[in-house]
Amino acid sequence: MYDFFLGITMPEAKIKKCLIEFASINREAKILDFGCGTGTLTIMIKEFLPEANVSGIDVDIQILNKAIAKAEQEGLDIFLIDYDGSNFPFPHNRFDNIVSCLVFHHLDTDKKRQILGECFHVLKQGGKLTIADFGRSRSWVQRLQFNIIRGLDGFKSTDANAKGLLPKLIADSGFENVTIKKRFKTMFGEVQIIIAEKI
Ligand SMILES: C[S@@+](CC[C@H](N)C(=O)[O-])C[C@H]1O[C@@H](n2cnc3c(N)ncnc32)[C@H](O)[C@@H]1O
Repeated sequence: MYDFFLGITMPEAKIKKCLIEFASINREAKILDFGCGTGTLTIMIKEFLPEANVSGIDVDIQILNKAIAKAEQEGLDIFLIDYDGSNFPFPHNRFDNIVSCLVFHHLDTDKKRQILGECFHVLKQGGKLTIADFGRSRSWVQRLQFNIIRGLDGFKSTDANAKGLLPKLIADSGFENVTIKKRFKTMFGEVQIIIAEKI
């Protein structure tokens, strides 16, 4: 249902393709898809870079089981794991890239900070974080439209997104060169692609 809903309401494939482009992932990189859901982005990355080591984590085991089934069906070797929603089950300096699509607006501001800290911890020096999520648009119409998602997903968890604070939270977690690379107008407000580096 989620895949279907996203597909008809958003330029989902475009956003995910663009996220992968801006992540500029090397052929044999170790990649983590944070909040991988049903694994759409995780699978796209593995298909695009078959030699890469691709992992996905999510808090929802039922959603994750769908991702596991999809990956098995495609015969793809992807590591998919559920966790407690707070502490990443990975060692320090594990990944070259972390990607995340439409997850951060589900996290309250304190949780955003905590998860960004986890991302910083498990990324290697020189590693890159690439996030696609809702941000503050310059268009008042798009800001108004974002209230639909805010009503559905919660005003508290979307607060920092609505105020355009996600890039600052990323920078406050130690990341550098935090940049909004692209803005997509959607039915539910503006989705931005943000990149950041661990220097
Ligand atoms: C809107 S879906 C996006 C799924 C996927 N990234 C995509 O673009 O298709 C949001 C996902 O975030 C996950 N999520 C929410 N809180 C999380 C957390 N603390 N850690 C990891 N995943 C989380 C949900 O379980 C859900 O699968």
